[in-house]
Amino acid sequence: MDTLGNWKRTDYCGQLSAKDIGRDVLLMGWALRRRDHGGLIFIDLRDREGIAQVVFDPEVDAAAHQVAEGVRSEFVLAVKGKVIPRPEGTVNPNMKTGEVEIQVAECKLLNRSKPLPFMLDEHSEVNENIRLKYRYLDMRRPQLAQNLILRHQVAQITRQYLTENGFLELETPFLTKSTPEGARDFLVPSRINQGQFYALPQSPQIFKQILMISGFDRYFQIVRCFRDEDLRADRQPEFTQIDCEMSFIDREDIITVMEGMIARIFKEAKGVEVQLPVQRMTYQEAIRRFGVDNPDIRFGMELVDLTDIVKGAGFKVFAEVAAGGGIIKGINAKGCASFSRKEIDDLTSFVSIYGAKGLAYVKVTQEGWQSPITKFFNEAEIAAMKDAFDAEEGDLLLFVADKPKVVNDSLGKLRNHLASLLNLTDPGDFRFVWITDFPLFEWDEDDKRWSAVHHPFTAPMDEDVEFVESAPGRCRAKAYDLVLNGNEIGGGSIRIHQEQVQSLMFKMLGHSEEDKRAKFGFLLDALEYGTPPHGGIAFGLDRLIMLLTGSDSIRDVIAFPKTQKGTCLMSEAPSTVDTKQLRELGVRLAAASAAV
Ligand code: AMO
Ligand code: AMP
Repeated sequence: MDTLGNWKRTDYCGQLSAKDIGRDVLLMGWALRRRDHGGLIFIDLRDREGIAQVVFDPEVDAAAHQVAEGVRSEFVLAVKGKVIPRPEGTVNPNMKTGEVEIQVAECKLLNRSKPLPFMLDEHSEVNENIRLKYRYLDMRRPQLAQNLILRHQVAQITRQYLTENGFLELETPFLTKSTPEGARDFLVPSRINQGQFYALPQSPQIFKQILMISGFDRYFQIVRCFRDEDLRADRQPEFTQIDCEMSFIDREDIITVMEGMIARIFKEAKGVEVQLPVQRMTYQEAIRRFGVDNPDIRFGMELVDLTDIVKGAGFKVFAEVAAGGGIIKGINAKGCASFSRKEIDDLTSFVSIYGAKGLAYVKVTQEGWQSPITKFFNEAEIAAMKDAFDAEEGDLLLFVADKPKVVNDSLGKLRNHLASLLNLTDPGDFRFVWITDFPLFEWDEDDKRWSAVHHPFTAPMDEDVEFVESAPGRCRAKAYDLVLNGNEIGGGSIRIHQEQVQSLMFKMLGHSEEDKRAKFGFLLDALEYGTPPHGGIAFGLDRLIMLLTGSDSIRDVIAFPKTQKGTCLMSEAPSTVDTKQLRELGVRLAAASAAV
């Protein structure tokens, strides 16, 4: 094996072009492919910027040619040579460097590689678990590497924009006390204070507010957050936020600055112009029209409320639901009247995940309405529904009757599901919408108490403050989410800056006086020393990059992601630890303790 010696790289493989013709270059990289044409050997040499074709001619340098003969996939090479034009007819217009090749004069073999567990060829479909186990190889694929490079660019653009706008990048602790954002905490036992635990932050929420109390005025951080929650394609147990907070501002100031940031990111990283100002929609309108608070507004198929039309009809299911305070809504799956029984059954199982007890349907055909339930409706009702749905021949009308939450949830999710089945969305079409006027509280049926829709530090609307205690269900919050193509990419609020209001909020959320002091005493104290009005927002960087790159999974934009089970297949975390380590921490495992 050769050493680098005094060899210094002059260029990245992927950056050579016709304007380099005639230059002597020194490249270093990995052998992606080798083609032996009898005399000549061609190797596609790859580095992070791309691929260059290097040519070994035995007549130019026999020793280098001999090295090339032994090269296998992913061997590490350094080559010295001249950039020459490719011979007529061999130009590759699909490659950035496709007009040139490097005539190798000298070569060093810097390292070998074992045969790979999978091909790096971008077209080969490899099981994700294998890719995660050999993440270092997976990241050599141009697609994944490009995602991570874009991630870097977005972080840099963000830093630059926020710095230009007077934000200071300040750090907040990881070993801290729990900040409730609705998930479970990851806990870290303290060795020095046995029996006590730090919590990894679910977000820097309380600390960024305290930085406002300290007078820093504008803060940001590109920061890791930790949440022990059920994972999905768009969720990781550790993820990154672009976290911001500002003082002496109202909602409009935050929205304006943040729209500017998003527009800058899309323009500079992707060349996409975001139309400003971004459209707004209240939470109530989003739920009414789309069933969800993160609507994908790239397509129609909005929810239609039919309660008034069908409540008096002869269909018992609908009549009983309406009489019990429930609602009946539907969506018009345009052009889907040809769906088979099986396809409709699949949709029925889909909505059942969200609690729907059934999915009534009507096929609008040439012969009229085909459906097991048509017989329950009179002509006027059918005409009114047809009107409400804007139904035409060939449409499939789908209905759910239940409590409002179940109806909106199930139809909202069904709408997205149909859009993906019917290919209605283009990932390159970026549609933003701010969702505003969220409720302050929601009733938690399991715990039989109110919980905060955003988080406990969010201020109620001025006109609703007086109802926080008497009618929590009607209070709206000064909260806002930014939604992109059906994904919540950011969320924030104006905060409570008065101790009495914050105390009342904790009381409403079921915290006893003692509990409140133990968990949030430091915040309540700080609020009493001249807290400026303030507010902020946090964006999910991983989700943003996922959408910018058109990736299906958040794992494709994170260098070292976890699986859906929260494991790292490469390092095999989490893992057991030595009893000695546990003893030092004063921790005994339940299973082990039981055995004692
Ligand atoms: P929130 O909980 O809405 O707000 O989080 C802000 C944004 O972070 C992203 N996000 C996630 N991304 C990946 N995996 C996860 N598990 C995950 N959880 C959240 C989302 C979300 O919009 N402190 C507040 C912000 C504030 O009020 O300023 C907060 O954390 O894109
Ligand atoms: P059933 O009377 O139970 O045979 O139901 C007749 C049709 O109504 C079936 O297509 C069911 O899927 C549908 N259905 C039953 N319950 C509901 C409901 N709560 N909402 C919408 N459709 C329902």
